[in-house]
Amino acid sequence: MTELGFVHQFIPGSSERTLLMLHGTGGDEEQLIPLARELDPGAAILSPRGKISENGSARFFRRLAEGVFDLEDLRVQTDALAEFVRQAVHHYGLDLGKIVTVGYSNGANIAASILLRHPDVLRTAMLLRAMVPFQPEELPDLGGVEIWIAGGNQDPLIPRLNTERLAEMLSEAGAEVTAHFFEAGHALTNTELVLAKRWLDAL
Ligand code: MLT
Repeated sequence: MTELGFVHQFIPGSSERTLLMLHGTGGDEEQLIPLARELDPGAAILSPRGKISENGSARFFRRLAEGVFDLEDLRVQTDALAEFVRQAVHHYGLDLGKIVTVGYSNGANIAASILLRHPDVLRTAMLLRAMVPFQPEELPDLGGVEIWIAGGNQDPLIPRLNTERLAEMLSEAGAEVTAHFFEAGHALTNTELVLAKRWLDAL
């Protein structure tokens, strides 16, 4: 589907929850559907494809080098994705408060950027392999927002210290943040998915 400004998948669910799945570099709207099914088989799935192509690999915003972001493009793409979520809520009749965002890598970074720029859009988020997307001039009010963060101690792309800085920033902004670090690289491991599912089940 290409409505609402983003190529995306929407799969209705049997519960009120919607999982907003944001893929990593080189993924697409299909990449995280199996993960969504594993995390919550009854949830609806909303899964957009990032609009940027980096040598043919889809991303949610441009980068100048690995880990060095094009901040102007990040701002534009963050606003566009936040607007997509707002419109999708209306279009598909979703409950904004029941959307759980699950972002992996580049998808986790744009989710963090939405949290910092549009604090009223994402109420619950799982940020898998995330880093600080940009340094906000002022922290937003993220009171009532729940965030679960998973980092890999051996991740060559995302240093643990950077993920820790993000966790601190989000909790300083008032979010309820739980951060875990695993003996893992950039790829997700089964251990963390079991814990992620447990956190989701307890929401
Ligand atoms: C990014 O560019 O968002 C991060 O470096 C993660 C990735 O490689 O996608």
